[in-house]
Amino acid sequence: MRPVVISGTGVFTPRETITNAELVTAFNAYATAENETNADAIAAGDVEPLAMSNEEFIFKASGIQQRHVMNKSGVLDPDIMHPKLPQRDDGEPGIMAEMAVDAARKALAAAERKPEDVDAVICAASNHERAYPAIAIEVQELLGIQGFGFDMNVACSSATFGIQAAADMIRSGSANCIIMVNPEICSGHLEWRDRDCHFIFGDVCTAVVLEAKENATSDEQFEIISTRCMTKFSNNIRNNNGFLRRTRPDGVGDRRDMQFMQNGRQVFKQVVPIVSQMVVEHCTDEGIDPTKLDRMWLHQANKSMNDFIGRKVLGREPTREEQPNILQDYANTSSAGSIIAFSQNSNDLAAGALGIICSFGAGYSVGNVIVRRVG
Ligand code: COA
Repeated sequence: MRPVVISGTGVFTPRETITNAELVTAFNAYATAENETNADAIAAGDVEPLAMSNEEFIFKASGIQQRHVMNKSGVLDPDIMHPKLPQRDDGEPGIMAEMAVDAARKALAAAERKPEDVDAVICAASNHERAYPAIAIEVQELLGIQGFGFDMNVACSSATFGIQAAADMIRSGSANCIIMVNPEICSGHLEWRDRDCHFIFGDVCTAVVLEAKENATSDEQFEIISTRCMTKFSNNIRNNNGFLRRTRPDGVGDRRDMQFMQNGRQVFKQVVPIVSQMVVEHCTDEGIDPTKLDRMWLHQANKSMNDFIGRKVLGREPTREEQPNILQDYANTSSAGSIIAFSQNSNDLAAGALGIICSFGAGYSVGNVIVRRVG
């Protein structure tokens, strides 16, 4: 089977940012107003007052300092507490397709490829803005790509699973060149009124061009040595929103479980050992000593989680270069996180350097992509 390379990546970064300080001010204004509204019920002991959020906790617990969002004003308005995006009619490009086209153009330029060189578009993301037609097909149309496109969703692992799907198609010959995009508007499914998680997510879109090594010309090539994907069912990260919502007796209201929910402590405890073990085993099975990996581009959810996985895999404290984090600037961007880390921290590697792109999240799902820098 023919070798496959990643020949270019691109990142669309929304213009607006929210710092932890801005986020906490908005949340605390919301919580104060709620507590005033419920003052009698709180005094009677019928309702628990909402506790205030604080910047120190957020940074210490997560490592996040700010996040990019598609709309800041709605999120920070204590009377709204979610992004406000303009209505678009069906003749206009969708917002996710627009983000994806921007990232895809950058990835195509880096790969020295034109839309006519591409055979397929995969849109791999944890939420898609509509059920159908697929966002991937809209991106295909907007870029003028022939062939086919499809959407897929494996939550935070969508991009690594998408890379495996694309690489397998190129290896087997059903496509020569594929662009995979990861538009993530996490601000849309985050419950900004819940202090346990209101700091977690940000918005972004990444794109990756994959092609047969024999055809690739760019100077940013990484050969895909091996991929490995794993899923194991868990309710610890869950969102119950879906197309059957209106069919259920209690389905239409403003319900907490219609947004992202997680048992963060459990996720942390259960996922870290699974990921560390899977990276070590995958490398060992490929004849690679995991302690000799030159770089680990990990999923960007939590700095302590990444530090722990880095230590377990490398057997020592990873340097910032060995295990780059971008979550301080972007927060958790679901499937896009490890791809941003890869896109922004890979070009300095010398020919022959080995690294792993690794994602983990809801499902649970874990995806590994072992790559070697092409000289
Ligand atoms: N401000 C101040 N205090 C807060 C707070 C906030 N915004 N949010 C929670 N707290 C409080 C809690 O109420 C709790 O108080 P208690 O000890 O009195 O009960 C305390 O801080 C610790 O909360 P906890 O939720 O246990 O924090 P944590 O150290 O586990 O950090 C996460 C929370 C979410 C950052 C962390 O668990 C995590 O990152 N988990 C993995 C998440 C993940 O990878 N998810 C995948 C998503 S795709």
